[in-house]
Parts: sequence; C-alpha cells; structure tokens
Amino acid sequence: MADSYLLAEPADRVEPFCPYFGSCGGCTLQHFGPPSYMALKQELVEMALRGAQIETTVLPLIEAHGDGRRRATLHARGKAVGYMRARSHDLLDITACPILVPALQSRASAMTRPIAATIGDCDVAFTATDTGIDVAVHTEKKFKPERLTLLAQRLGVPRMTLNGEIVLQSRIPSVKMGKATVELPIASFLQATAMAEGTLARLVLEGVGSAKTVADLFCGLGPFTLRLAETARVYAADADKAGIAALQLAVRNTRGLKPVTAQMRDLFREPLVPTELTQDVVVFDPPRAGAEAQSRELAKSKVKTIVAVSCEPKTFARDAAILIAGGYRLEKVTPVDQFAWSGHVELVGVFKR
Ligand SMILES: C[S@@+](CC[C@H](N)C(=O)[O-])C[C@H]1O[C@@H](n2cnc3c(N)ncnc32)[C@H](O)[C@@H]1O
Repeated sequence: MADSYLLAEPADRVEPFCPYFGSCGGCTLQHFGPPSYMALKQELVEMALRGAQIETTVLPLIEAHGDGRRRATLHARGKAVGYMRARSHDLLDITACPILVPALQSRASAMTRPIAATIGDCDVAFTATDTGIDVAVHTEKKFKPERLTLLAQRLGVPRMTLNGEIVLQSRIPSVKMGKATVELPIASFLQATAMAEGTLARLVLEGVGSAKTVADLFCGLGPFTLRLAETARVYAADADKAGIAALQLAVRNTRGLKPVTAQMRDLFREPLVPTELTQDVVVFDPPRAGAEAQSRELAKSKVKTIVAVSCEPKTFARDAAILIAGGYRLEKVTPVDQFAWSGHVELVGVFKR
C-alpha cells in the first residue's frame, strides 16, 4: 500500500499546485481531488486498525495544514539546494516550497544558498517561531561557529546554530502554547504546523474532560501539558532534557496554572509502572516507534481514561491491541491531517475502562 498510492491515478485528479510535483520526494498526493484524498488518509488509519483486528469508530479526517509547515530541513549538496528527489538519493534544486508557512516558502532556500557557499554541503533546519526564524545548520565538517556570524547578522535571524553551537542569538526563539510562552531549545520536537498542534491539543483536552489529575507522557515542550494545566494538575515526562527545562521555565513564567511536575525520563526503558499511574487520565504522544513498553504498564493499571496521540497508525494499532488485551475499549479514533499531501497521517484515540 505504501507505494501503490504513489502510482495511483485518482478518478478525481486535480492539477498539482507545486511546480516540483512528481520530481520532489516530499508531496505525493497533490494530484488527488478532495474525496479520494480524504478516503486515502482515512484508509491509512483503518487499514492499520484492521491489521491489528481492532474495531472502533474512525471519525472523519480533520484538516490541520493551516498556514503551512513551520519546520523544514533543506539540504545543500554541490550547487543544489532543496529536498531529495522522489525515489532517488539525488537532490532536487528548488527556489520555493509552497507547503511551508509564508515566512519560509522562498526564504528557506534563499538562506541556505549563502550558508552552503560559506561552509559547503550541509543540512539546514528552519523553524518559523513567534519571534523570527530559528536556523540550525548541520555539517559533517568541523567549523568554528564564528565562521557564520556575519552571515547570521546579515540574514537577521534571532538565532543560528552550527552543529548545536550558537553562532548568533539576539533573542531566544519562542512559541505560544495556550497561555504560556515556551523558549525553543535548539533541537527539541515541535509539531510541524501550528494548526495541528492546536487541533491535537483540542482533541486531547476533549478526551481528558474534567479530570483533576493527568499524566502527559512524551510531553515534549508541553503543548498539551501547558493547556491541561489551566484546569488540572499535570505530571509530564519526556527524554528530552532541554525540552523539559524549557517546559519548567514556561510553567514558572505563567500565572494561574495548576501545579506541573515535569521530569526527564526515558519512557522506553523506564515506563511509568502501575503504582505510579495514579492519575485520572494518561495522555501519551510517542515518536513513530510508539509506546509499547508504556502500553504494557498501562494495560496493568487502573487508569480509567487514556488519550493516545500518534503519528504512525501501525504502531498505534500495536499499542492499542496491548491496551485492549488489558481491558480497555478504544472508543474512537480521530485522524488529523498535519502532513498534508504526504502519505502520513496523525491520529488521536480515546480508551476507557
Ligand atoms: C511526537 S513527539 C510529541 C511531543 C509533544 N507531545 C508535542 O506534541 O509536541 C514525541 C516526543 O517523544 C520524546 N521521546 C522520544 N523517545 C523517548 C523516550 N525513549 N522516552 C521519553 N520520551 C521520548 C521526544 O523527545 C518527543 O518530545
């Protein structure tokens, strides 16, 4: 299936809006008209659930592209700057990417060119924040960060880093999450579109309801924690040390939140065990590998409601099967289209016992 839709000619074919469609490996579904596009994304979720023999209600796909992707990594190899070509290891040179937020559409490649002219082949990750564009440059070669200082000043970005070291930081890039403002660490996870972050958070809050105590596992910078803490005490955990520190700072700087305990913890190796799972509701949002170890502990717990967010329906279905074998019902699944025109889909599932 993964490849078959790439070759499919949908009955409701539309003209792709990107001039690089077909050459670029990024968007594979721009030629799908709305009905077949929605059906395909829905099917990706339903197929994963069927594969694990799970029956539940799958609600209609929610569009969550919004203003576009606020994160993108461009590659520079030789004279080319862009993304990998479809089904190839070669780079496609681009001047603009229309699926990014307006601030990045043409600026990302325009900024990558002088960086590559200065240090050669590199990968440049851009994040459009509320306070400007955060630029993280990675290269195989060893350079002092000062090599890029003049260029960073000329580009007028609030922060540029080279292989994790600060080149220039005039202000820390930040994003608003609920009532809080979070200062972005250099390499922490951030949902790819602001609209998807808001949509996932809304579905999490709906699933949590009026619970007074919540655990937010794989919390990242806290987009759910910070919104949940407006009404509930939250225990939050993630393996990202800098992310946890940023969340703790955001909590300290925000008035009117209920108490939040945020802990750095590897939840693959050290999942919360039943004696720690004392909250009314547990939320989890793991990376693509899923939350198998944590699901095994949750299956033995007395937690009444679990809200699972996932960017990989297959590992979600595997984890859901573990929870169901432990006595949970999967009440509903809501697919969320964060990575529009790609073969990826996010989802939120609500489990009860
Ligand atoms: C899909 S992100 C979700 C983050 C957050 N919920 C959000 O919406 O921004 C997955 C998170 O899992 C974290 N993570 C990856 N492996 C982990 C592990 N072994 N233990 C704990 N957290 C981990 C990452 O640091 C990342 O923040």
